[in-house]
Amino acid sequence: MSKVLVTGGAGFVGSNLTDELVEDGDEVIVVDDLSMGILENLKKSPQIKFYQKSITDYEFMKKLLINEEFDYIYLLAAVASVADSVARPYETHKINQDANIFILETIRKHKLNVKKILFTSSAAIYGSNLQLPKKEDSPVDPLTPYAIDKFATERFVIDYGRLYGLPTVAVRFFNVYGPRQNPQSPYSGVLSLISQAIKHRSAFTLFGDGKQTRDFVFIKDVIQALILLTKQNKVTQQVFNVGSGQFVSLLQVIKTYESISNTQLKMIVRPERLGDIKNSYANIDKIELLGYNPKFDIETGLRLYWKSL
Ligand code: UD1
Repeated sequence: MSKVLVTGGAGFVGSNLTDELVEDGDEVIVVDDLSMGILENLKKSPQIKFYQKSITDYEFMKKLLINEEFDYIYLLAAVASVADSVARPYETHKINQDANIFILETIRKHKLNVKKILFTSSAAIYGSNLQLPKKEDSPVDPLTPYAIDKFATERFVIDYGRLYGLPTVAVRFFNVYGPRQNPQSPYSGVLSLISQAIKHRSAFTLFGDGKQTRDFVFIKDVIQALILLTKQNKVTQQVFNVGSGQFVSLLQVIKTYESISNTQLKMIVRPERLGDIKNSYANIDKIELLGYNPKFDIETGLRLYWKSL
């Protein structure tokens, strides 16, 4: 049994990760300010301890890290909305970057004996780079405060490994989807918005011609990747793409979803979004070499998502 910290553990990815850790017999401490996450995402379990706190509460975080002696730390807490980072660059920076560096610094200063620290970055850092598929060593071009913070923090995380010997790893998420994805904002993941529109028989706004492609990766495959990277001791000071390694167009996804749900999606077509990228998918060779094996193709993933709604 390990003691694990999941920041952002009440969110979409964090709560699915917490489920899996609990299943594995771990004790999980969740820190989440519930700005995006929701408490109902967390199962009632004696193995879960929940703190409604922001990771920017430094006094709290310091005490927690020193007192709990975590084996593994997953840094998932973030303002995940790119649009929000554009509207409030400094506020989101304090959360997306500074608070994570404070955690690393506390571990370093107090010589805390953590087995692995994993930070979640984003494919957003590749920005305008059109090279496909995206490889970990492809050029990056972070174009928004969100992407800049993700990239810089990823570098800090790796450097805390190189400079101070902390066992660190970072992942770059592609388009993660699945149960508990929050469709709250117009900038939520497109599959959560399509799910919501199908479920409530409301309209979905399609930006562009629908031929844009994405690497949609099902949440359970993402969790597989996260656990694999933390449990392999030798994997440290490295960054990995986490995707499915496949791409599919929005129109194809919509067609598949319509047939699974037996519903026709109402669509309003609008011009493509400013700055939208046409195609994106991940080269996942690096993580596959470690044993990552994504199991959910888009149809299977969508079926499970639909069932969960
Ligand atoms: C994703 C990330 C974003 C990151 C980018 C970089 C999410 C939610 N966003 O954006 O943080 O900067 O990767 O790789 O994961 N669409 C519609 N209608 C809608 C919403 C979206 O047609 O109501 C379209 C978008 O214009 C886009 C596609 O669907 O072409 C996917 O959109 P979205 O889910 O927001 O993801 P990304 O644009 O890939």
